[in-house]
Amino acid sequence: MARVCVIGAGYVGLVTGAGLAELGHTVVLLETNASRLEALRLHQLPIHEPGLDELVERYAVRGRLTFSGSYSETIPEAEFIFIAVNTPTGPDGEANTTYVSAAVASVMKYARPKQVLVTKSTVPVGTGDLLSVVVSDAGFHDIEVVSNPEFLREGTAVQDFLTPDRIVVGAGSRAAAARVARLYSSLNAPVVVCSRRSAELAKYAANALLATRISFMNEMSAICEAVDADIEQVASVVGFDRRIGAGYLSAGLGWGGSCFPKDLRALSVTAKQHGIEPAMLDATVAVNARQRDRVYRRLCEAVGPVNGTAPTVAVLGLAFKPNTDDVRESPAIDIVRRLVESGIRVRAHDPVATGNARAILPDIDYCAEPYEAVANTDGIFLATEWDEYRQLDWPRIRELMRGRVIVDSRNALDGPRLEKLGFRYLSVGRRSHAAEQRDLMLHLESVPAGGL
Ligand code: UDX
Repeated sequence: MARVCVIGAGYVGLVTGAGLAELGHTVVLLETNASRLEALRLHQLPIHEPGLDELVERYAVRGRLTFSGSYSETIPEAEFIFIAVNTPTGPDGEANTTYVSAAVASVMKYARPKQVLVTKSTVPVGTGDLLSVVVSDAGFHDIEVVSNPEFLREGTAVQDFLTPDRIVVGAGSRAAAARVARLYSSLNAPVVVCSRRSAELAKYAANALLATRISFMNEMSAICEAVDADIEQVASVVGFDRRIGAGYLSAGLGWGGSCFPKDLRALSVTAKQHGIEPAMLDATVAVNARQRDRVYRRLCEAVGPVNGTAPTVAVLGLAFKPNTDDVRESPAIDIVRRLVESGIRVRAHDPVATGNARAILPDIDYCAEPYEAVANTDGIFLATEWDEYRQLDWPRIRELMRGRVIVDSRNALDGPRLEKLGFRYLSVGRRSHAAEQRDLMLHLESVPAGGL
């Protein structure tokens, strides 16, 4: 079992640190933010991530996961040093690697021969090469820099860490690759050993391809509406094709979050720096923006104005997706902002993300309960498909609301049932219940008795 130091106790660092402890390694999480460190020592996490509290608690209590703010105390003891600090978007869309460089400069002050420096942070292609130069300039010719990108999804990050589709190890030597791969040997996952540059690019390629699938389906959803087809049915048909697969085909309000937008921008910059026009990436981004516009317009047309005055809308869900409190680049937040700017009153609910949303949008009504949020509103906009919204008491909601509009931007609710209850239900790329029934009747008429 190895001694590992993980630098940066953000979402990636925490999951990686706790995950490596679960695999049997002894891990120190190095966090230089004093208040975050203090909270971690009390086992209080800065993020909401299912299963992570338990994992951190379990290994912190056993002493296999500890927290430190000191490079001098932690670096000399470690065999592997993981860099898991943030790489935020820079002024021109590029990934800003300042924190990575600063962490490596600090590591070099206390490094020991034969340690392995592992980049977990998503970094532009060539960053590993630059870090290698820093390492050898510091006199360490036997410290290797290895790229080991993460593919963790917020909300399921612990599970993703423990049951990965693959482990990617990008290294300059087989010996260094083998050392990093061995850290994960108790996981039953394929290990792809490749060049460091390929590993760095593969992380961007995976995120860009997933975002492209979603944008593709969102474009299909517009076509579905125009030709009276149903995007859910189309997705189901194409998803059964093993060459395509069923994941990341859900049309709706489009993609957001801390990774896809940032990584697509950064990859686009990389392409342009090398004289390549990133036509596919640009289209993926443009379609994502257009989808939000389309759904936002649908909401505005459906709700208002009411008796000449601005309507009130309940927004259900603020996180960029369910099971996280992360609102970074959340499509839901974008919609709320647009509503507020056009004078529409917003009452918002999210099971866990209202604290983070309030920091960005302090002036809207945040409600502790969805039933409180919908009271006296003219319409509901479901922005994030939290499971609890599927279980709501809709007859009760009908009594609480002033209007009858529901715009389900994630195709999460039971439309036919809501229409039966008297709601005007609008979703994305789907046929209305009424149209479906009309079509079925036509279909029945054209089939001989007993033919169905
Ligand atoms: C993503 C990658 O999946 C992960 O591998 C990487 O390490 C970080 O970025 P994450 O941002 O946590 O993970 O969320 P993900 O579940 O991939 O969803 C991203 C966005 O796409 C969300 O806004 C989600 O609502 C949207 N989405 C996802 C869709 O609109 N349709 C889909 O079918 C799937």
